[in-house]
Amino acid sequence: MTAHPRPSDVEPAPETKRVFIKTFGCQMNVYDSERMSEALAAEGYVETADVAEADLAILNTCHIREKAAEKVYSDLGRLRDLKSLRAKSGKETFITVAGCVAQAEGDEIVRRAPAVDLVLGPQNYHRLPEFLSRLRGGEAALVETAFPDEDKFKALPARSPAKSASAFLTVQEGCDKFCTFCVVPYTRGMEFSRPVAALVEEARALVARGVREVTLLGQNVNGYHGEGAEGHATTLAGLIRQLASVDGLQRIRYTTSHPRDMTDDLIAAHAEEEKLMPYLHLPFQSGSDRVLAAMNRKHTADDYLRLIERVRAVRPDIAMSTDIIVGFPGETDADFEATVDLVKTVGFAYAYSFKYSARPGTPASSMDGQVSEAVKRERLERLQAVLEDGHRQFNVATVGKTMPVLFEKAGRQDGQLVGRSPYLQLVQADAGPEFIGEIVDVEVRAAGANSLSGVIRGSM
Ligand code: SAH
Ligand code: SF4
Ligand code: F3S
Repeated sequence: MTAHPRPSDVEPAPETKRVFIKTFGCQMNVYDSERMSEALAAEGYVETADVAEADLAILNTCHIREKAAEKVYSDLGRLRDLKSLRAKSGKETFITVAGCVAQAEGDEIVRRAPAVDLVLGPQNYHRLPEFLSRLRGGEAALVETAFPDEDKFKALPARSPAKSASAFLTVQEGCDKFCTFCVVPYTRGMEFSRPVAALVEEARALVARGVREVTLLGQNVNGYHGEGAEGHATTLAGLIRQLASVDGLQRIRYTTSHPRDMTDDLIAAHAEEEKLMPYLHLPFQSGSDRVLAAMNRKHTADDYLRLIERVRAVRPDIAMSTDIIVGFPGETDADFEATVDLVKTVGFAYAYSFKYSARPGTPASSMDGQVSEAVKRERLERLQAVLEDGHRQFNVATVGKTMPVLFEKAGRQDGQLVGRSPYLQLVQADAGPEFIGEIVDVEVRAAGANSLSGVIRGSM
């Protein structure tokens, strides 16, 4: 086994300030929360999982569906009560709302929840320390949701010791696609790609801190067009090739891709780059061309199927995953059946499926033919049953095979670890903690819809 740094634990000194961070939404928010935590560590903050002892509570929010956004306000109610309880014993608590609800609602948050001290959009969180010192100086509620020219990534401190052998790395942000149901172009702004050199440097720093796998993140990650050598724009495939040359980095993944930007060179990379894992998350949203047109997806169901054929031609074993929306305005039973048919045709290893949620300011929210909650629920249940069948089939097909598993953390039972197969399947096996961060051959013995269990080769 190779020696390398392990994820470390930080013991807080008694006088340290504590920050509680709750993360909603997508992986990019998970990445942003880590970067906020690091920026705050430089100011003497240590993360706590106990909100009652937090001097600073941050909700890193998601605006994608109504439920996620509304949850923020119920949490803010609880935080307000905690804040006044702590004030009685002379303790100050700053409440911050970050992320996509902050961006979308801005001042409105402070109006609805006056206990909030700070509202920071996703492009402004590098300025957290500055805003906190202004609050300490006595300034009242502060709201910052501009899209600044400065690059937040340049202003953030270097990466801290890794919490896991697998890390996220944001390479692209924002989206210009304007699907008619989606808030992301409004909350994250226009597409922006980070330069290749900065990403290679961050990947090296992560590896030096114990990371073995990176998942490249972007709302539209395959639209990546970052500045490369001599100022030339580099594609995602080009970036992956450069990252593949980082010593010690053993696995590369990326998410989320749009079918329109699935270029030949990216497909080819799946055949050529050994470190690029055989997994592709490619949302199709609906199997009905009429609904796809109303969604402004700019692809048909057939385009999607042909695209998957091209990917499978170079990488037959690739695990496909997707996002699907049911109950988009005007969706008929026949449209929904087309979605179910497409799911059966492709055979997804994994999928995320959602009931359409009308979002303020998006074109679809004012379209005719809004579908009732009962119909949406019924369609989602039916779809999820079909999807689960597919996931189980995919997993069962790996029983008896031996796969390299990257062990990430302790499992639920003593003496057990959990890790990921190349196909992103969750794998449990009996193994000691010394295997965390290692890639080990595991023979799969059993499979369910959501996980596999196996034994380390050579251990029996
Ligand atoms: N950038 C990614 C994902 C964006 S949000 C992409 O383009 O695929 C993740 C998923 O949430 C979307 O793929 C979509 O399936 C779902 N989603 C977005 N807006 C939604 C809405 N208004 N109602 C329900 N689901 C939605
Ligand atoms: Fe939203 Fe994705 Fe469409 Fe962009 S491509 S608007 S992020 S669903
Ligand atoms: Fe949600 Fe914003 Fe991500 S709306 S899905 S947190 S980009």
